[in-house]
Formats: sequence, structure tokens, C-alpha cells
Amino acid sequence: MLLDGTNLADRIQTATILKQGGLVAIPTETVYGLAANALDPIAIEKIFLAKGRPQDNPLIVHICDFAMVHSLVKTLPKKAKKLCDAFWPGAFTIIVEKSDQVPHITSGGLSSVALRMPSNAIARNVIALAGVPLAAPSANLSGKPSPTCAKHCYDDLNGKIDAILDGGMCEIGVESTVVSVREDVVTLLRPGAITLEQIRAVVGEISIGTGVMQELDVSAVALSPGMKYKHYAPKAKLVLVDSTLQAYETLVNNAPEPTVYALCFDGEQKRLTKPFLTYGKKENALQQAHKLFNALRYFDKTDATLIYARMPNQNGMGMAVYNRMLRCAAFEILVLD
Ligand code: TXA
Ligand code: MG
Repeated sequence: MLLDGTNLADRIQTATILKQGGLVAIPTETVYGLAANALDPIAIEKIFLAKGRPQDNPLIVHICDFAMVHSLVKTLPKKAKKLCDAFWPGAFTIIVEKSDQVPHITSGGLSSVALRMPSNAIARNVIALAGVPLAAPSANLSGKPSPTCAKHCYDDLNGKIDAILDGGMCEIGVESTVVSVREDVVTLLRPGAITLEQIRAVVGEISIGTGVMQELDVSAVALSPGMKYKHYAPKAKLVLVDSTLQAYETLVNNAPEPTVYALCFDGEQKRLTKPFLTYGKKENALQQAHKLFNALRYFDKTDATLIYARMPNQNGMGMAVYNRMLRCAAFEILVLD
């Protein structure tokens, strides 16, 4: 069933489905989330089934106001509170010790819980109408790029969930920044629209979790279970190319494979003789984030077997774009000079 997020009656219907233990894909400012009542273990189990998600991969619990936090956490460390005050509502997820209220299945068996207060007005209204916190992982099949519009949710989950609440294109396009706070130590587990620089300005020091910018060693314990799993992958092999535009053009144009595609920046396609897709201006990470997942989904609809992607800038929001592309490329970078 397709519901309209701009319509109050449809948001009320969404909340009713959720209160009754159903699943609805809802819009947020980052990506669409597959929502269920975070406190209802039976509803949560349905999320794992619909997505094909491993049960040890915990879910983010979404709240609509600060009052909801207290019953979900054991304590809220000072630094965590400061970060929430600075970045909520918004694309920011905090991980802290959970209370007994949060079912084990929601937290993937961990003693911590991930919390986020989205800025998207439709999402917050649905949470308020449901009157319960909503667990919502990205509303894609496990391993696929996150959905940035209702159509993506439909393509992945039609027939497996109760409804999709359409709220248009997501403003940001990549998932929230995830940070854990443990005994005053702040660690970045996933870069997003809230940047490292912004976090540093609030809490001073932050370490970057292992597995964020390099491949996790097979023997290493993932700080975030999601890091272990293959992510964002299109069917074709994607290779990140770190080079000048000229060297990139030569590589793409001379590639012997007949089904090579290029993923380059706006305006860089002029001299390419292979099919291409652009993902925003070279200097505009916001635009790249907005377009990336749609581009990756597009390749799945083509005969592409190999994608050469131009390397994004890694500053600010670029870190989030780079991180998603790295994972998509299984950390393979081709450096040319
Ligand atoms: O922007 C977003 O965060 C979107 C929207 C829908 O809010 N949600 C999202 O959820 O991206 P998901 O489940 O696709 O990604 C959540 C990530 C996973 O990598 C998971 O392993 C990690 O957060 N995570 C959740 N709870 C955790 C915990 N207690 N400890 C460590 N990592 C956790
Ligand atoms: Mg996800």
C-alpha cells in the first residue's frame, strides 16, 4: 500500500499500522527507514525477515523528542548529551548503554542502543502519532544501496511490508553519522552529514573507528556490526580510480571489456566513449551524497559488469561519500599517475 506522507490521514494510518506491530517504510532526511515499534520484539523480528538482515546487526531507534530518550538508556554521558543537544533533530545517531526497556532483538544482542531524532517532519510526526520509539534500519534489502525515494523501497520490499509512506526524495541521501560514547570516549563509527569537524567543535577529541576508512581485518571485532557486512554493492564490480581526469579518460576509453561504465563528476563526461553516469560536481559533496545511491541502483538496471568511479574529495561531508564508495568498491582503489 502506498501512502502519502504529506497527508495527515495517511500519517495516522501509518501510525496505526505501526502500533499494531506492522512494518512501514517511512521517509527521513537521510534515507528511507523500515519502521516498526522498537519495543515490540515480534514486530522487530519482521524487520530482520523482510530485509534479510543478519540478526546480530542492531537497529537505530528513532525518537521524536528528548523525553523519549530517558526510558531507553541506562545513563546519558555528558558528552553524549552535548552532542544530542548540538545535532538533534538531524542526521546524527548516538550509541550509549541501553536500558532494560530496549529488547535484545532491537539492539542485536548488544548492551548498547543507537538513538536518532530525525529532522524530517513527516518522520517525527509519525513517531509522535505512534507514541512509541521506532526502530528503522534503511528500507532496502540487506546489501543493497539505501533507498532515497519511495520507488527504491517499492523495488526492494514490495509484498514484504505493510505500506510505504511517500515523502519524496530524501534531502541528504546518505545515512546518518553514527558516534558511540563510552566512558567519555567518543568514536566515529559511520561518517554522515554531521561532519568530524562539527563533532570536534562540540566535544574536542573524537577517534575514527577501525573499519571506517580501512577494510576491517578478518580477525577484528567490528565496533559496529554493520561494518562486517558487504554494503551498498551494485551487481557490477566498482573500482574507485584515484587519478587525473586525463588518466581516467584513458583508462575508461581503452578498457577492453564491452560493458564498462563510468561514474564521474558533472561535466567530466565530454571525452568519454563509454556509457556514463555523473554524481554531482567535483567540489560539491552534498550533491554527490544526494545522487550516489540512485546512481548505484541505476547500474543494476544496465548490463554494466565493471564501473570505474572517480574518487571523491574526503573533506567534510565528502568523508561520508568516500566511505560509502569504498565499501561499495570492497576497498579497491586504483591509483594512476
Ligand atoms: O540515517 C540513518 O541512520 C538511517 C535512517 C533510516 O535513520 N538508518 C540506518 O540504519 O542507516 P541501518 O540499520 O541501515 O544502519 C545502522 C548502523 C548499522 O551499521 C548498525 O550496525 C549500527 O548502525 N548500529 C546500530 N546500533 C548499534 C550499536 N548498538 N552498536 C554499534 N553499532 C550499531
Ligand atoms: Mg542500512
